[in-house]
Amino acid sequence: QTQYTAIITETQGRVATITLNRPEALNALSNTLIAELVEAATAFDADPNIGAIVITGSERAFAAGADIKAMLELEYSDILAGGLTSTWNGFEQMLTPTIAAVSGFALGGGCELAMMCDIIIAADSAKFGQPEINLGVIPGFGGTQRLPRAIGKYKAADMILTGRMMGAEEAERSGLVSRVVPAAELREAAQQVAEVIASKSRPSVQAALSTLQAAEETSLAEGLRLERTAFAALFATEDQTEGMRAFAEKREANFKHR
Ligand code: CAA
Repeated sequence: QTQYTAIITETQGRVATITLNRPEALNALSNTLIAELVEAATAFDADPNIGAIVITGSERAFAAGADIKAMLELEYSDILAGGLTSTWNGFEQMLTPTIAAVSGFALGGGCELAMMCDIIIAADSAKFGQPEINLGVIPGFGGTQRLPRAIGKYKAADMILTGRMMGAEEAERSGLVSRVVPAAELREAAQQVAEVIASKSRPSVQAALSTLQAAEETSLAEGLRLERTAFAALFATEDQTEGMRAFAEKREANFKHR
């Protein structure tokens, strides 16, 4: 077991949980935290026994952004060299579904980390925002691209230009959040959603994820071509036969590739 200093990892059945753990800084995303998070997540992604990954923080903060005190020392050439922003590459290419379980602050890089995940479950206490404008910068971990795709141009411009926070209810209404649950039930709700996903056939989960990802980046025509190819390919899997046979026989599917 790798020793981490800024995160805690655990597994329960086929679900892995990564808890951001820098309470003294409201889980600000230091270089160490980001490196550990990406390393742990990509290791779980490569583990055939793990079918979904939950990423969470504390009750008070999912993550209050990139570490401002560390960034204070950085200049143009440091950021261009990619130390801060390129570290996420491995995380964004994973094929294991990720669920952000957000309680409290998800600001700046914290909001962007949540948006790198596939599903966002929010406690009713959650507060989302991209306050970078207050620091004389702009979002740097994908916020200017993912927020407008999630909530539309006008709402995203409101958030990014004013730096205001959005509560869980507004975030759900706007399409940023998949579900809102009472704060006390957040961990359990995320675990349950993760277990449901981890019980499905992995080839179909991966095909669903990669076509969903394509929906964010390609034209409709290209996306539909990808979907048709991926849909057809799943008919070459044993789990497609099993899934459809189980339906016809009125029983639960017993998927081979989980
Ligand atoms: N970086 C470093 N330290 C942070 C931090 C951050 N992003 N957010 C909070 N902290 C630290 C505080 O400095 C404080 O530490 P000390 O006790 O040592 O002073 C501790 O966490 C607790 O925070 P507060 O005392 O400020 O707590 P609060 O309840 O009064 O306020 C808050 C909470 C509104 C979230 C406030 O902490 C805040 O505004 N944080 C910064 C949010 C922000 O601007 N995030 C964007 C960062 S830039 C970015 O993320 C760039 C990018 O896109 C890549």
